[in-house]
Amino acid sequence: MTVRIHPSILSADFVNFERDFETISNCDSIHIDVMDGHFVPNLTFGLPMVARMQQIAPRPLDVHLMIENVDTLAERYADTGVDSVTFHAEASKNLVQLARQVRGCGSKVGVAVKPSTSLDEVLGNLLEFDMVLVMTVEPGFGGQPLIESCLQKVRQARAEIDRVGANVLLQVDGGIDENNIARVSGCGADTFVAGSAVFGYVDRAGQIDHLREKASHPSF
Ligand code: DX5
Ligand code: ZN
Repeated sequence: MTVRIHPSILSADFVNFERDFETISNCDSIHIDVMDGHFVPNLTFGLPMVARMQQIAPRPLDVHLMIENVDTLAERYADTGVDSVTFHAEASKNLVQLARQVRGCGSKVGVAVKPSTSLDEVLGNLLEFDMVLVMTVEPGFGGQPLIESCLQKVRQARAEIDRVGANVLLQVDGGIDENNIARVSGCGADTFVAGSAVFGYVDRAGQIDHLREKASHPSF
């Protein structure tokens, strides 16, 4: 399984994104947290900022939408040309229809679930998605500890992805660090978002390599 490391810029310097992008240029994709202050109790930035980031980013952008009205807004993010757009299952009235719309814009599509949300509807429609994101914290803020009980859903998703033979990335987001990433990898995740565990270090590129190395040796 190929390990992917996606640093979350929620922990970057919000007035120096371009500079901070250069410090993580050995990552696989850059994870962009869009928060609207309604779906989650935090506010980051919206479409104009993502469109501008897409113009200057050294790596593909993985956009994580934590917003309401995603059925009407997700396509506009996909239209910016970003690599992938992930929406929350809780925010959409029709997961399959929205996934098809996002793909129709030429972007990959991901679907995310909060810690208390069942994966059943997502796993029943796996071929509609390019990525499944199992949140391992309540979305909204960086720097929170991983919620251990979420790892059961990571195992459940891995089992179903393998059973179906789907070409789907299994992403985890929230509280991932050098001490738990091998264990989370052992649960079947292949794509790891890390905010504070990358941007909290002076040598961010070295930390990305370190996390990738640890995840490449899963512990069970
Ligand atoms: C939380 C965001 C995460 C966050 C992760 O709602 O979706 O992407 O930045 O930060 P860490 O890695 O610090 O938990
Ligand atoms: Zn995120």
